Amino acid sequence: MIWKKDYEIGIDIIDQQHQEIFQYISNFIAITQGISDRKEKLDQIKESMTFIKESITAHLEMEETYQEKMSYPNIEQHKKVHAQFKKELSYYINLCEKQKLDVIKSQEFGTKLMTWLIMHICQMDQEIGQYIKCQKGILK
Ligand SMILES: [Fe+2]
Repeated sequence: MIWKKDYEIGIDIIDQQHQEIFQYISNFIAITQGISDRKEKLDQIKESMTFIKESITAHLEMEETYQEKMSYPNIEQHKKVHAQFKKELSYYINLCEKQKLDVIKSQEFGTKLMTWLIMHICQMDQEIGQYIKCQKGILK
């Protein structure tokens, strides 16, 4: 998958991390492609999932701190959406830790992750960008 300029929200630090996460998820999807439940593949999937979870968790925290700092009015709703997503992430990480994650489930996880990221960036995160532009007087 290819990152689009349209996904940018106009806040450099956030855009940069979004793009990195997008890349990690693309790599993850590439790893999960093709059906094979060989142990090496599942190990690779597990390693990649843990890395993605850590990156996303750190990113969501940064985004929330940023919103706080900028007195973003919709922060509480935004935090709720992040919390819900973190629950979903944990569900898959749990499956993985209990050795209950097969390649099919990991493919499902990859698709969900990518869909969530793009939808979230294009809706809720764009609103942060708009707010900041208004604050700076770029947009009225
Ligand atoms: Fe967000």
